[in-house]
Amino acid sequence: MVNYRLLDPEKLEYLTVATVEELGNGQRKLLDIDGDPIVVFNIAGGYFAIADVCSHDNGPVGEGDLDGHAIACPRHGARFDLRTGKALSLPAVVDIPAYPVRVVGDEIQIGLPLE
Ligand code: FES
Repeated sequence: MVNYRLLDPEKLEYLTVATVEELGNGQRKLLDIDGDPIVVFNIAGGYFAIADVCSHDNGPVGEGDLDGHAIACPRHGARFDLRTGKALSLPAVVDIPAYPVRVVGDEIQIGLPLE
């Protein structure tokens, strides 16, 4: 499974990656979490996080243009759903990881699967 949003919460560990003030509406933040590139977005007050690696050819998908909850990889245009990591269009056919995001106080936290 790569949509970690579906994982049992007890199988996740949450890490603070930003504050609410830091990540305004429409903004994104590129992260490096133990060597794994992840990107977190604020879309109209909803927070979403995906792996920042395109399943087509490892492009920096997190830098792509947004259209609602879809993001287009800047390299060859494959689109993914930020909510699920689902590949929406060619040339990608494999989903990318999506992570749960929660807000605790003013901290934005990403849920990472426990080893
Ligand atoms: S690397 Fe993303 S579409 Fe090719």
